[in-house]
Amino acid sequence: MTAAADSGRPFTVEPWIVREPVLHLDAMGQTESVFALSNGHIGLRGNLDEGEPHAIPGTYLNSLYERRPLPYAEGGYGYPESGQTIINVTNGKLIRLLVDDEPFDLRYGELRRHERALDLQAGILTRDVEWVSPAGRAVRLHSERLVSLTQRAIAAISYEVEVLDEPALLVVQSELVANEQLPAVDDGDPRVEAALAEPLVAEQHRSGEAGATLVHQTRVSGLRLAAAMDHEVHGPERVKVTSEATEDIGRTTVITRLKPGEKLRVVKYLAYGWSARRSLPAVHDQVRAALAAARFTGWDGLVAEQRSFLDDFWATADIEIDGDAELQQAARVATFHVLQAGARAERRAIGAKGLTGNGYDGHTFWDTETFCLPVLSHLAPDAAADALRWRQSILPLAMERAQQLGLAGAAFPWRTIRGQECSGYWPAGTAAFHINADIADAVRRHVAATGDTAFECEVGLELLVHTARLWRSLGHHDSAGEFRIDGVTGPDEYTAIVDNNAYTNLMAQLNLRYAAEVAARYPRAAARLGVNAEEMASWRDAARAMRIPYDESLGVHPQAEGFTDHQRWDFENTPPEKYPLLLNVPYFDLYRKQVIKQADLVLAMQLRPEVFSPEQMARNFAYYEAITVRDSSLSAATQAVVAAWTGHLDLAYDYLAEAALIDLNDLAGNTGNGIHIASMAGTWSAVVSGFGGMRSDRDGISFAPQLPSALSRISFGLKWQGRQLRVTITKDEAEYRLVSGPPMRLRHHDEPLALADDPVIRPMPPPAVVEPVEQPYGRAPRQRHPG
Ligand code: BGC
Repeated sequence: MTAAADSGRPFTVEPWIVREPVLHLDAMGQTESVFALSNGHIGLRGNLDEGEPHAIPGTYLNSLYERRPLPYAEGGYGYPESGQTIINVTNGKLIRLLVDDEPFDLRYGELRRHERALDLQAGILTRDVEWVSPAGRAVRLHSERLVSLTQRAIAAISYEVEVLDEPALLVVQSELVANEQLPAVDDGDPRVEAALAEPLVAEQHRSGEAGATLVHQTRVSGLRLAAAMDHEVHGPERVKVTSEATEDIGRTTVITRLKPGEKLRVVKYLAYGWSARRSLPAVHDQVRAALAAARFTGWDGLVAEQRSFLDDFWATADIEIDGDAELQQAARVATFHVLQAGARAERRAIGAKGLTGNGYDGHTFWDTETFCLPVLSHLAPDAAADALRWRQSILPLAMERAQQLGLAGAAFPWRTIRGQECSGYWPAGTAAFHINADIADAVRRHVAATGDTAFECEVGLELLVHTARLWRSLGHHDSAGEFRIDGVTGPDEYTAIVDNNAYTNLMAQLNLRYAAEVAARYPRAAARLGVNAEEMASWRDAARAMRIPYDESLGVHPQAEGFTDHQRWDFENTPPEKYPLLLNVPYFDLYRKQVIKQADLVLAMQLRPEVFSPEQMARNFAYYEAITVRDSSLSAATQAVVAAWTGHLDLAYDYLAEAALIDLNDLAGNTGNGIHIASMAGTWSAVVSGFGGMRSDRDGISFAPQLPSALSRISFGLKWQGRQLRVTITKDEAEYRLVSGPPMRLRHHDEPLALADDPVIRPMPPPAVVEPVEQPYGRAPRQRHPG
């Protein structure tokens, strides 16, 4: 059996496990991202225990960043002067092995077996290796790794070695390494981070009997970080354990001689902590305390806690898909990665890549509010609430930014780690003001999903008031009395600085309306924010008069004023290698033609369906399908939802598969830089909102289930205002089950239902017959549906 392969998808298809049965050296970046473990606070890429070979070594702490200059060839007023980059912190995953003097390195000797598996129910990454050193010593290795979902500061590794044929002297070196050497990146892709060399300045290093602690500060941003490790060693009687530390290295060395059949097991406990304010002793003690708690819990205890956390999560969150095993697995992987990104982020940002890689510099975008939070609000509501509390915590920065731009209220950054605007390209950055309405809408949807009125008053109100003020000052009533928002960029980054982007205006309208409604609900809290009746009336006026462009002759909504008059992109003469267009053609040309990077008007239809008649939705969908090239991974899931709603069920299925498989199959070729968290979250929405037809607001929840021809059954669960619900759809019927919580009402294809102890079953309507739609030449999703 050869244990290294060079091509093809690295993973098997299994319901609950992502397994790489044979090492794929050429897919190292992808497997490191897919096998990344995170709890939202700590992120460990799926690097090999011994550290090499690797694509990108990655150990991340949420919001631990370094500042770097943002140079401009031609600067301008209001351009951010410095950027923020996620950094590779002290690597505590490293466990090196020497077998009779020979370092264990897969690139030498003979690799008889190499298997890695991520168990989505256990939350553990395991690795099994059989290796023969160049000198002929055979060893078997079994390691397990977890990042604790219950103990936020903790990760742990169980590392076991067995010698096979002949006795051997083993040396295990378990390390903490700061300022690891990173591979150079210069592939000309602006979406890849700027790697920073040696970002950590040593402050303190200590070693104990079987462990060490390193404290560092980031060079420019001045954040203090501590990493600590401790070990338990189980082996034959004669084992020697020593530890040492230097500025950038902590090392515990375990030496023993094993006879065939004997095993050495080292359990490594790792603790991480960081702070912008706490003193060195405080941060040091914080990680030592976390480590003491982890050791007290023990490896088995951590494993059991992890399992029970995930049992609880999956009891609601599991999605079952019958008829497509690959999609079944992908839907669970997607849900798992969304959970990992947010679970314990606790009032810190959730990045576009979670903590799985350094793509996009580790920044947070609107991806969080528009894609992730709808999922978390229904599956892990505390995590969603915390993400919005983070937005609330950066309000002072957003207000400062608005002031700098000459605007009222708050202007949240397009991309950031800590809260300051980090986008150096303003047409696809600051001008994308819609992020402010996206945040407001995440508040609205969170309150609808949870019924949490305390949150609405304490967190929501402030976010709503300051974003409403922004819209009021950004837009104006024109001579005809319409409220216009000019010179902004919508979600589609191939069209910039436009007037009345329909998505932006529709989301701003909701923002203004909801702000007035919530301010009226909590008048005293609103008054403390300086809101008076006149201001609320001005928000309602603006919302009522909001201009939504419509092209009468085509019968479609232009994405923005005049968009449908632009020249169409010459898709027929654009060869496949030109995509993504942003890397191969000038923005100038993209901006003035009809070509769409990602769902924009179509996303507006997903988020504001009540505004569009069924006929408008169908016409708009057909129109935009023909010009959308999906150069952003945010697009497919949205197209899946609206395809399902307009009766294109098989197309919706193709798009769902694209969203779900983007990382397992590395469809965009850049999974190595990190998981596409928005696409993972969009997978859930494509199932639940798309095929489940779920829509909700604070007054109720409704479903309009449909199934594509390839699937025989879908089942999904969600939390709804203190209840746990499960919906199961087959070709003939839909079943609604209240798993826990008080009786409730819902709608099934507009029919009102009462749900209590017994499940309610309703027949499915026959599928609609619709005219097919077309995508730009060469840009149709891979056809997965039969026929
Ligand atoms: C998309 C943005 C998105 C960003 C991060 C870009 O390619 O156009 O909408 O926020 O990626 O995922």
